[in-house]
Amino acid sequence: MVFINENYLKIKNNYLFAEIGNRTQKFIKENPDAKVIKLGIGDTTQPLSPSIIKGFHVGVDDMSKKETYKGYPPYKGYSFLRNLIVQHDYEPLGVKIDPEEIFVSDGAKGDTANILDIFGKNIVAVTDPSYPVYVTTNVMAGNTGSANELGQYENLIYLPCTEKTNFLPKVPDFKVDIIYLCSPNNPTGTVMNRNQLKEWVNFAKEQKAIIFFDCAYEKYIIDSSFPRSIYEIEGAKEVAIEFRSYSKTAGFTGVRCAYTIVPKELMGYSKDGEKHSINNLWFQRVSSKYNGVSYPVQKAAAATYSEDGIKETNELIKNYQENAKIICNGFDKIGFKYFGGINSPYIWLKAPNDLSSWDFFDLLLEKLHIVGTPGSGFGPSGAGYFRLTSFGDKGQTIEAMDRIVKYFTN
Ligand code: MLT
Repeated sequence: MVFINENYLKIKNNYLFAEIGNRTQKFIKENPDAKVIKLGIGDTTQPLSPSIIKGFHVGVDDMSKKETYKGYPPYKGYSFLRNLIVQHDYEPLGVKIDPEEIFVSDGAKGDTANILDIFGKNIVAVTDPSYPVYVTTNVMAGNTGSANELGQYENLIYLPCTEKTNFLPKVPDFKVDIIYLCSPNNPTGTVMNRNQLKEWVNFAKEQKAIIFFDCAYEKYIIDSSFPRSIYEIEGAKEVAIEFRSYSKTAGFTGVRCAYTIVPKELMGYSKDGEKHSINNLWFQRVSSKYNGVSYPVQKAAAATYSEDGIKETNELIKNYQENAKIICNGFDKIGFKYFGGINSPYIWLKAPNDLSSWDFFDLLLEKLHIVGTPGSGFGPSGAGYFRLTSFGDKGQTIEAMDRIVKYFTN
């Protein structure tokens, strides 16, 4: 008899985007003529740009010749990519990152999940609403009890982010060991300013806590007063791990490449009170359980930093930012209340007529053939809200908003 990890039995719902995918597929099967527009999962739709394709090809060609063939990649990623990350993503911010603090990986989703492997039993706080991965992976790791009727898990701290708090979490006045922060936020589109982030860094320092800072959407920040990295805040290297990704910036959702910064200053504690390097522990975990990102993919990621690569990537982001504007303009026309959409690829709206998140999901799908994401899927404080993504195709985004505006104008 084989015993299972019973923590999985506590999981109350399917992974949000898997559930939406199932419901959408069912609808399409039953309504084969419906022209369904998907603005649910934040999945990119535009092709890889020419420089990135060129970088990819160089990588593939190198693999075809004995002299340039590559076997297992280095565990932390090739230095050609890690040096570019330091030079382009951190130096312009005045942030000093050692390439040895960078771990190239196949995705920020996996990293935010797997990082729990190196931590013991801790008091963990998530924002409510939040990216569902943070919650589910803590359940899987046994850091929570069972879910209540609202879907909140016992022993997990939920920091409500509502209209009243401007969708920002309040720094708690109680003990927390691990805090997940995401800015620009998925799903609400809010961005934390320097002072707000500073408060969190100070809190983490006082508590000897660690912040998991997910900034997968930092390239969408247009207001330069907002920090793009938590390390822009003094002392943050002692208390934060930062997760970044090429998915939403260079269209790598299908290519898979990301990176995580684990500073050398960052320490955790064993029960005897002794300090241990988190960077060392993460290296142990990565080298034991993972063989890294393929060489052609890392060459493609490196190409995003070439002169043309930067231009093309900025164009791609601009294209999605225009989609966000199209969505916001549509909601302005019909007087819908929404948040985000600026400095963020997500638009977080109040479902009209006091509809629940899932009722609005059904209405959009059944009447207008548009797929979005119900806010309640991100946590109880998301109830009555709804998320649309700007990562769709431009023509389809215009079409979706035309359908919405027309329907709600009559
Ligand atoms: C999102 O839409 O929130 C993410 O792209 C979904 C995911 O990473 O699974």
